[in-house]
Amino acid sequence: MKKVKTGLIGFGTVGTGVVKTLAGKGAFIKKKRGVAVEIVRIADKDLRRKRPVKVPRSKLTTDVNKILNDPAIDIVVELIGGIQPAKKFVMKALKAGKHVVTANKALLANSGKEIFGLARKKGVTVRFEASVGGGIPVIKALSEDFAANTIQAIYGIINGTSNYILSKMEEDGESFKSALKSAQDLGIAERNPLLDINGMDSAHKLAILTLLGFGRYVDVKKIFVEGIQNIELRDIRYAKQWGYSIKLLAIAKEDGGRLDVRVHPTLLSSKHLLAGVRGAQNAIYIKGDMIGESLLYGEGAGQKATSSAVVSDIVDIAESVAVGKALEMPNMNFDSGIRGMKEIGKVKSRYYIRFMAVDKPGVLAAISGILARFKISISSVTQKERHKEHAVPIVMLTHDAVEQDLKKALSIIYRLNAIAGKPVTIRMMR
Ligand code: HSE
Repeated sequence: MKKVKTGLIGFGTVGTGVVKTLAGKGAFIKKKRGVAVEIVRIADKDLRRKRPVKVPRSKLTTDVNKILNDPAIDIVVELIGGIQPAKKFVMKALKAGKHVVTANKALLANSGKEIFGLARKKGVTVRFEASVGGGIPVIKALSEDFAANTIQAIYGIINGTSNYILSKMEEDGESFKSALKSAQDLGIAERNPLLDINGMDSAHKLAILTLLGFGRYVDVKKIFVEGIQNIELRDIRYAKQWGYSIKLLAIAKEDGGRLDVRVHPTLLSSKHLLAGVRGAQNAIYIKGDMIGESLLYGEGAGQKATSSAVVSDIVDIAESVAVGKALEMPNMNFDSGIRGMKEIGKVKSRYYIRFMAVDKPGVLAAISGILARFKISISSVTQKERHKEHAVPIVMLTHDAVEQDLKKALSIIYRLNAIAGKPVTIRMMR
């Protein structure tokens, strides 16, 4: 069987992992899947950096065109991340009739329509298992294994850095800053960790899951996104006392024919399966009309897990190339009956709210009176400290409320003399 020739763009952590895997396990993969893959060229801007893998100098280049213009190369693996120049390289590879494997969530979330459209036109494949959930086979599950299902909801913990930080805060009482530092040391955070903690990394991944689950290209800019940067240790503690954990959830679900897509910190019962997802692990909890509830769990980042997904994509394509039968791109943009997006203001949820209020008679009555005016009912309330002169936390959980009603009520409460600072609100899982 012929060796399927592959070119790699990006020789960083994941690129090195892919090279190591194919070098160390190429023979095993050949036995298992009957296909041989050869990396014939690797392009990177920086060839001086030491990598823990041996590659003949002749295979290395700083010129990406040596891959994109080489007619012998069937598969281009893009592992540089970011939108440009990755997009330029991917489009050029597709135009040249090459298959593409990418782990680039930002690129697919922003330009997936164009990229998948071009691949279909050229009769080639784009595979992207590593773009969401690292080694977790969620892309295959949604696009192939759950093909017979109408997907009803997807709840994902798909940013390892945020989950690691929240877990450290909850379990060890660590500060946000020190937990972020250790996530960076572990190598799970993005080069710019702002994308991890502000929720954008999750939003990129959610846009990909939404396309596969609901057949809709969602403009990332239209996804409601709130990160974990304002979560305080005390909110994690108070939530825990009521039996809840705080997780950064990426949610896509059908609600009355509309698509409700959002990323935000969420209180979920400590008994929920997702609450058990700790540290840098990822999990995607999917509800479908035939599967019921399914939980996919595993390492969402890291060299080995991510390389596992990239190599699996390369092997799938290589098999088809070896037998001369191209894998076609499925039509991901299908009609799932969704008619438009649900605005965040119309979303109904239960809420955790923390007010900082002066400790004096009548304050709680004033707060609950205003909430009642907007038909917001309180399910639990507690004052956390006693202090005559200073503001103390009043923490409550509400029953279901419409977001825009809660916002209006809170803006009135905020203006009360007894209230110090902006109330903190965290949505609860629903
Ligand atoms: N920075 C990402 C995370 C890993 O923390 O999950 C790659 O997607």
